Amino acid sequence: MSLLQTALQRFNDLLAQAQQCGLDYPNAMSVATVNAQGQPSVRTLLLKGVENQALVFYTNKHSRKSDDLAQNQQVALLFYWQCLHQQVLIEGRVTDVSEAEADAYWQTRPLPSRIGAWASQQSQTLAHRADLEQRYADYAAQFADGLVPRPPHWSGYQVMPHRIEFWTEGEFRLHHRECYELNHGVWTLRLLNP
Ligand SMILES: Cc1cc2nc3c(=O)[nH]c(=O)nc-3n(C[C@H](O)[C@H](O)[C@H](O)COP(=O)(O)O)c2cc1C
Repeated sequence: MSLLQTALQRFNDLLAQAQQCGLDYPNAMSVATVNAQGQPSVRTLLLKGVENQALVFYTNKHSRKSDDLAQNQQVALLFYWQCLHQQVLIEGRVTDVSEAEADAYWQTRPLPSRIGAWASQQSQTLAHRADLEQRYADYAAQFADGLVPRPPHWSGYQVMPHRIEFWTEGEFRLHHRECYELNHGVWTLRLLNP
């Protein structure tokens, strides 16, 4: 098994353990992007899964994060599971998921989420809350047959990692940090001071 495979296996094992903690969203992660001016921003997203050695999430491609990602494909993902005393930091580069993958995932989303994706102009100014509710009602009426196509601006990204750090809480603040890193095509594993 390569070091990347080992790291992703460890990540999947932790996620599975986190799913036993009784959390509402064990797959919640902070996703940091950087815009063209170098300004970082961060928000919580749900990890959809790990596929083809990449971490996949879905969003609105007209959003602020997508504007950032159009300019700068570098991202950082951060998971903190208090119940496990573990943090995982993943840095990498995004590419788009395929249309077929996005279509397949779209079909698994509950109907209200699919209608909501049409109604919300994510990250754009909303003059009145009632405008959003009206848009939702209008799309719910338009798609009353339950056949809701995927909006062209709703899709996913896959993050190809080049750095994965596992942080485990230790006694006396002597935490344990293990850093898997890709340099010049070679993955290495080293410890870091806490
Ligand atoms: C627990 C949780 C899960 C979320 N999951 C997603 C998600 O999977 N996709 C998404 O686009 N926004 C999700 N959001 C909303 C984002 O945090 C954010 O508000 C939205 O994507 C707009 O971000 P942006 O303006 O930086 O692009 C989630 C928020 C929370 C608190």
